[in-house]
This record gives sequence, C-alpha cells and structure tokens, in this order.
Amino acid sequence: MPAQPPVFSDQDLQARNTLGLPARAAVAVLEDESAIPALCEALAAGRNGPEGREADAPLFVLGGGSNVVIEARPHHRILRVALRGIRLWDETAGHWIVEAAAGEPWHGFVDHCLSQGWPGLENLALIPGTVGAAPVQNIGAYGLELDQRLHSVVAWDLRAGREYELRPDECGFAYRDSLFKRDGAGRWLIVRVRFALPKAWTPRLGYPDLRDHPGLRDEGGGFGAGGAARGAPRTPSPRRIFDAVCDIRRRKLPDPAVLGNAGSFFKNPVIGASQAAELARRFPGLRTYPQADGRVKLAAGWLIEQAGWKGRRLGPVGMHERQALVLVNHGGAQAADVLALAGAVRADVEKRFGVDLEREPVVLD
Ligand code: EPU
Repeated sequence: MPAQPPVFSDQDLQARNTLGLPARAAVAVLEDESAIPALCEALAAGRNGPEGREADAPLFVLGGGSNVVIEARPHHRILRVALRGIRLWDETAGHWIVEAAAGEPWHGFVDHCLSQGWPGLENLALIPGTVGAAPVQNIGAYGLELDQRLHSVVAWDLRAGREYELRPDECGFAYRDSLFKRDGAGRWLIVRVRFALPKAWTPRLGYPDLRDHPGLRDEGGGFGAGGAARGAPRTPSPRRIFDAVCDIRRRKLPDPAVLGNAGSFFKNPVIGASQAAELARRFPGLRTYPQADGRVKLAAGWLIEQAGWKGRRLGPVGMHERQALVLVNHGGAQAADVLALAGAVRADVEKRFGVDLEREPVVLD
C-alpha cells in the first residue's frame, strides 16, 4: 500500500523558531521519505481548485526555524522536516562523501563528521539550524561557504512531483543565496545533502578572528593532529579549529536558547567599487572586503553600529550589544516588532551611508 501523506494539525511554533515568536499554524511532520510521493499528489490536488486557484494554503518547508520571522497566524501550511541519518555514502581517492538527512541538526552533524575523521566543515561549527536548510541560504562563516564542500543535494521538486540530484553548479549558489531560496520555501523539499570532505585536509585560517584566536597559536605544546617534524610549523587539528570557532561564536553571538535571534539579520551589502571608494573617503573606519568580480562587500554590523543601533532597543526587540548585525528578542516580541526595528535600522543606514540593507531571514506569513 502506498504511504499516506503527512497529516496537518494545529500546532504551537514558538519553540520551533529561534527568534521565539509566538505562532500557531497547520503543521505536518515529515519523518519518512516514503511519504513524499503521496504528499506531492495531495499538493497537486489542492492546486487544482476552482478557476485554477490553490484550494489549500500554500506550503512552507521548515527546518530548524533559525532563519524565519514568523507571523502569529501564518496562512501557509508548514511541513517540518524531521528526516534523520548520517552515513559515509561513497569514498573517492581524494574525498569522503558523507550524506546527511535534511532534519539532522547542523552542529551535531559537523561534530559527528570530525569524530569519524571526516574533516572540512569545522569552520561552520555552531551554526543553528538543520542540514537541509544549510544549502538554502548557502551558510558561511570564518572563511568557508557551504558550496565549497558540497557534493550534491537530493531534493524533491514538489511542483513537478519528482526527485532530483543537484550538483553544486546547478544550485545557483551565491553569497547567502541559492536556487532553493529564490524559488520560495514551498517549491523544493531537500531530503538529503552530500558533502565532499577532503582527505588531504588543510586548515582555513584566513579569517582574522580565527587566525588570531589564542587556541590556535602554537605555543610549543603541539597541535595534536599536526604530525609535523620537530622545528617545522605545525598545523592545528580540525578539532582545535572547531573548538576555536565555537569559542568565537559563543563570545560574540547570543545563544538562541537564552536570547531569541535569527543570526545575522541582514546580508553584508555588496556595492560598486566607486561607491565604496567614496564611502571609504568619507568614513575612514569603513570595513571593506573586495570581491572577485570587482565589487566591494561592506560589514553591515559596522554600518549598523555607526548608525547608533548597537545595543539599542525598540520595544521588546533590539540589536545585539556585541554584534549589531544580530536582532534579538528581549521577550514578548511579535513579528511586527521585529519588522518595525528592521525597517528603522535599514532607514537609518540608508540615510547615513546611502546603502540599502537586505534582510536575511524569510518572513513566514
Ligand atoms: N563589526 C562592527 N560592529 C558590529 C559587528 C561587526 O564594527 O557590531 C565589524 C567587525 O569589527 C568586523 C566586521 O564588522 O570588522 C565583520 O564582523 P564579523 O567578523 O563579526 O562578521 P560579520 O560580517 O558581521 C559574517 C556572517 C556571520 C558569520 C561571520 C563570521 C553575514 C550576514 N554574516 O558576519 O554569519 O558568522 O561573518 O564569518 O554574512 C549568520 O549568517 O547568521 C552569521 C552569524
């Protein structure tokens, strides 16, 4: 007998979004891939309502809820992905190909890979959310972006009712962006993600915060997994880098379990070289990062701090006191409070610097 589609029921979502916004919606939990064909059929039937309109509310695929601003009563129906499992899927001369189900918590997955001797994701430690959400926004931190370690994404196109294996060049990756994000949260259902983790691993220590971390300075005691000869420069182990990244993040970024937040609330803006040069002339402290295409990325946190918003509150929300790019819920906030603060910050940065900040989280309405 074919598997039944997941069943929707009214559920509380406050603990399922890291901003901690109060919300209730029709939610179904996907625990088994075998239910997906029936889900596609149910969706197609819902779409063939009178006059071609959607008879049922549109679907929103939710992972760890770490990149959403959720309204109190969203009109979307929510599919919460709870698929689990991690395995060594393949091995080539140069790489371990490790596959993880979309519902695996990201940080636990990175930790597990290191324990198994599959390095390469340590710079992305402690990022909240799930494995399946990671390619959607092409997560990145401390000098590494997910697409640089990706082998492929196994995803269902829920509109076509078909499963695809997408290689990195088919995923439309850009800075904090992908095909999955651009197509909207109801089209693609990522079920498994495969990573190509290098056997000839070398550390990525280019990011200033990481390079300068005391835990990564070789003070003569050795780095454990470096294996270098006496006198030669030693290499820190992947685990040591993982620990350093966790330490940096814990110092700078609020723990969503303690203070609701969705990580960076805006993308770092990328502007033209001449505008960047003009801004750097007017604002000597401006943080600029030249890009391969000649454009220049600016640090949104710096712009927000200069605009006076670091540590400042508006109602129950505010911009974090240690990282101005992170919007936090001090308690009791609704989506409207979050969007009002985001609007005020965006307007002030625009007024002062002539730079438009783009929101990173998705609004679930
Ligand atoms: N800065 C300030 N004031 C602030 C915050 C930052 O002046 O309040 C300055 C810093 O001094 C530094 C520069 O801005 O010179 C960059 O700051 P940071 O190293 O903290 O990184 P970021 O650009 O603010 C990005 C990612 C983070 C990621 C870090 C580390 C985006 C939108 N954010 O932040 O990702 O952890 O780099 O790689 O690209 C996330 O997406 O949720 C996230 C936390």
